Amino acid sequence: MSEAAYDPMRQFAELAGDVRDPYPLLAEMRSADAVSQLRLGPRVGRYRLDEKAPPIPAMFTVLSRDFAEQVLTDSARFSSAGYAVTMGQVMGRTILEMDPPEHLRHRALIAKAFRARVLDQWSEPVIGAVVGELIAAFAGDGRADLVRQLTFPFPIQVIARILGLPRTDWPRFVRLSTRLLGVMRNWDAAVAAGAELRRYFADIIADRRREPRDDLVSQLVLADIDGHRLSDEEIFPFLLLLLPAGAETTYRSSSNLLFGLLSRPGQLDAVRADRSLVPRAIEEALRWETPVLTVARTAAADTELGGVNVPEGAFIAVSLGAANRDPARYADPDAFDIFREPQPHLAFGDGPHKCLGMHLARLEMRVLLNAVLDRLHRLRLDPAAEDPHIHGLVFRSPPDLPVRFDPVS
Ligand code: HEM
Repeated sequence: MSEAAYDPMRQFAELAGDVRDPYPLLAEMRSADAVSQLRLGPRVGRYRLDEKAPPIPAMFTVLSRDFAEQVLTDSARFSSAGYAVTMGQVMGRTILEMDPPEHLRHRALIAKAFRARVLDQWSEPVIGAVVGELIAAFAGDGRADLVRQLTFPFPIQVIARILGLPRTDWPRFVRLSTRLLGVMRNWDAAVAAGAELRRYFADIIADRRREPRDDLVSQLVLADIDGHRLSDEEIFPFLLLLLPAGAETTYRSSSNLLFGLLSRPGQLDAVRADRSLVPRAIEEALRWETPVLTVARTAAADTELGGVNVPEGAFIAVSLGAANRDPARYADPDAFDIFREPQPHLAFGDGPHKCLGMHLARLEMRVLLNAVLDRLHRLRLDPAAEDPHIHGLVFRSPPDLPVRFDPVS
């Protein structure tokens, strides 16, 4: 595809899949079995399974809040190694596919950069600056698509700043990152983008080896693991993981938050009038429309879960979306209600792999929502918008968010 024809927004909308509401089906499955086994016949969709092909592992979906938590917090029984054959193919060996104790040693290398206290320092100078620039570009128009013009470009630019990439490189970085993120749609383009990003990062790493600065690449260059400094090949996966982990998720969660409030003007007015409600609105949006619907594990040995026998090597899809709408834990779970009694949710996962960037994600959503409320007066969904909605089966968010507001002169 030519550069001119490449539209990352369209690619991402397609990637999400056009499923409007998977929740009734998930609820039905959960009420039948909290741990449900997927039994494959000789055909899967259009494909006939080849009798000579290696056997497909047993597959299970975990749908209740309690069992989801059990799987995620027990990495001895439920391994993350399966990510090696999916995300690992384009990113290299990342912490996502490691099990303890290797996992903790590697995670510790970047964990410091993502602590709440460290991040607070970036709130205005980094995150506020990115959001401010993006809003200023359309504030005079009186209308905008908040996905295309704000939530989509925002988190990749924040990551570029955290990594310490020169501003002139951002367009190239954003282009390569969105291609890498499209791995499930266009494998070849993602692999090529991964290779180019490696070459790009190799130059940045070489520069920081010569002259370390106050950025994440310099921290990795100076890090020590098991008595040795990390090689370029060991640093690349860290950098490549931050793109899908930190960019795609946050753009979707910010879009869901804005969608939830804009489609319920009473709740939007309440948050505008009382900003102490912002954190509750963020948590409720994460629970109600969980951006990453499912995470994967593999049974490390024969085991049992919710009375179901799970053989060694079985593939386990933990449905974070279904867990976050489990009526056993949340009253009226399908409603978006920022006034509900706060309850912890699983949008960031749980256990040793619980999202490393959750403080950053929350901070980004907070800064973004406050800036939108401060700068865009009389903000509302565009009455002429055709059918605003959230969709997706793998990731979920609105494809667009057309809004109107009073233009700022
Ligand atoms: C609302 C936004 C976000 C959501 C919903 C989200 C969700 C998740 C989930 C569910 C996991 C666990 C995966 C698993 O257990 O298999 C995870 C892991 C991770 N996330 Fe996030 N994430 C978000 C934002 C971020 C940001 C902003 C960053 C950093 C820039 C980030 C970096 C990571 C990393 C590095 C991991 C791997 C942790 C590990 O394996 O130990 N995430 N995220």
